[in-house]
Amino acid sequence: MCGIIGYVGNRDVVPVLIGGLKKLEYRGYDSAGIAVVNAKGVDVVRAEGKLINLESKLGEMQLHGNFGMGHTRWATHGKPNENNAHPHRDCTGQVVVIHNGIIENFLPLKQKLQAAGHEFKTETDTEVVAHLIEEKMNSGTKFVEAVKSAIKELEGHYALVIINGAEPGTIVAAKHGPPLVIGIGEDENIVASDVAPLLEYTRNIIYLEDGEFAVLDQKKVEIFDGEDKLVTREPKRILWDAVMAEKEGYRHYMLKEIHEQARAVRDTFTGRMFEESGQVFFNDLQFTSEEWSKFRRVHIVACGTSWHAALVGKFLLEEAARIPIEVDYGSEYRYRNPIVDEHTLVIGVTQSGETADTIAGMQEAKRKGAALVTICNVIGSAATRMSDGVIYTNAGPEIGVASTKAFTTQLTAFYLFSLYVRQLRGESRDDIRFAMHEMLVIPHKIEDLLLKQEKHIEELAHRFYKSQDFLFLGRGVHYPIALEGALKLKEISYIHAEGYPAGEMKHGPIALIDENMPVVAIATHTPVYEKVVSNLQEVKARDGKLIVICDEGDEAMKKLADEVIEVPWTVEPLQPILTVIPTQLLAYYIALRRGADIDQPRNLAKSVTVE
Ligand code: G6P
Repeated sequence: MCGIIGYVGNRDVVPVLIGGLKKLEYRGYDSAGIAVVNAKGVDVVRAEGKLINLESKLGEMQLHGNFGMGHTRWATHGKPNENNAHPHRDCTGQVVVIHNGIIENFLPLKQKLQAAGHEFKTETDTEVVAHLIEEKMNSGTKFVEAVKSAIKELEGHYALVIINGAEPGTIVAAKHGPPLVIGIGEDENIVASDVAPLLEYTRNIIYLEDGEFAVLDQKKVEIFDGEDKLVTREPKRILWDAVMAEKEGYRHYMLKEIHEQARAVRDTFTGRMFEESGQVFFNDLQFTSEEWSKFRRVHIVACGTSWHAALVGKFLLEEAARIPIEVDYGSEYRYRNPIVDEHTLVIGVTQSGETADTIAGMQEAKRKGAALVTICNVIGSAATRMSDGVIYTNAGPEIGVASTKAFTTQLTAFYLFSLYVRQLRGESRDDIRFAMHEMLVIPHKIEDLLLKQEKHIEELAHRFYKSQDFLFLGRGVHYPIALEGALKLKEISYIHAEGYPAGEMKHGPIALIDENMPVVAIATHTPVYEKVVSNLQEVKARDGKLIVICDEGDEAMKKLADEVIEVPWTVEPLQPILTVIPTQLLAYYIALRRGADIDQPRNLAKSVTVE
């Protein structure tokens, strides 16, 4: 999963490319590079490490042009060094390629091309594409046709952007798997991995579909399908504004995004639930009661943080639907031959809408006849295009690699969906109204929680940031929050952390507990509160350091725990939206104290478009 951008127009291209790559850097950041075409020919500049290294290299050069492309990399084939950084070139240096994805048959292609005399300079799978196009051009085929023909020989997943120094002004883009979006400007066109870098120039966006191929120049964009037929597609108008994706004075995107959660949650329920009538309505998802009654089971498929949201979703939906619900990792589901038929509803949960494993799981379910719904944050993304219904989480762009507001809005979407299912099953309007009222006041409670607890959590972080391990405990709806709290801490602070169901602790993790082990427990008032308290006594009896996320005013807990983080009361199904926030802040402030790279943690990427 890399970031790709290509531009043709009247602007000086280097700042356009670098500005765009900054917005795409979350997709990968182990090296970066650009190619610029001007009267002198093609210039390629690359640097190992973060974009800033490329910027300082460019600072020493006088590179100008109106046409070029850029790439920020997350390595799959070949070490993350300068030589393997994109763009890659053919033997002549004229055909230049950037790529996101994996060319699975690169080895046999490479061997064939080497035998034909092509010289390879890198360890990447991508370089093969440049030489393959060159090979076609050597036998007289024109550039665009050569690209089309080369692509037919590729196996695997790719988003490719290709230029030819001998044909300035033409960008070719091809998609099979990872995303590519095209921004239609006035006298300029731009292609990238997502919309964020385009918004500065245009709001009119075309999403390329799998198998499609686009040819862009300054004046027009032509799209062709897999059979080489011209495709007519109206651009979509994207309402996110460019400023929404900036840091707005916060030190990190992650902190900004934690603070945006009241707004994001509110935007996710607004216009979808109507307290007066007790009705839930979705624009992009509509079932009749009869259609709903045909479902015999629900499978929820997701990865990472979205998988934790899915686990909470299972609690909410199973309670509402009273049919069996299973939650799977995308990477497991796709290969386990799940029992799926036309009576199965499959819900894909994905912030980006492009996670390869989740998409593959959804595809498999669709092939077997399931109805598909996705809970997704990105309009027009792959997951939304393949689904029968979509619940958009209106979180706005999430840039921090560690997901925060995407998670709480996914929980909000699941809550709304559970109310919708209760409505379809003919439940009392009064009960649904009460449930809606609780949702309506959650944004205030989020604000209140941040206001009262952030400083305190920062202090706790200062006390615990040197710990080697953390244990997170929760039961019921809070078990997924324990998992999510542990994941957040691992991701950004690199401290080992485990999430466990509190009741399971005695079957293993209890062996780890001593005076050096901080245990973060979620113990709000749910039907299993007393049980959790007993589990926490077991921690105290072994001198574990107990930090408990509990209801405001829980005096008994204040006596038992070493530290408490109090959260406002709400109904059980909504509690995870509040209890996860202290875990996000704790991870953030611990990582800050440890001097970690919070928005771009090592080895991770925001959007994982490879298997
Ligand atoms: C990556 C990100 C995680 C995210 C996961 C699933 O691993 O680093 O933050 O939860 O992908 O992404 P999705 O876009 O499908 O929700």
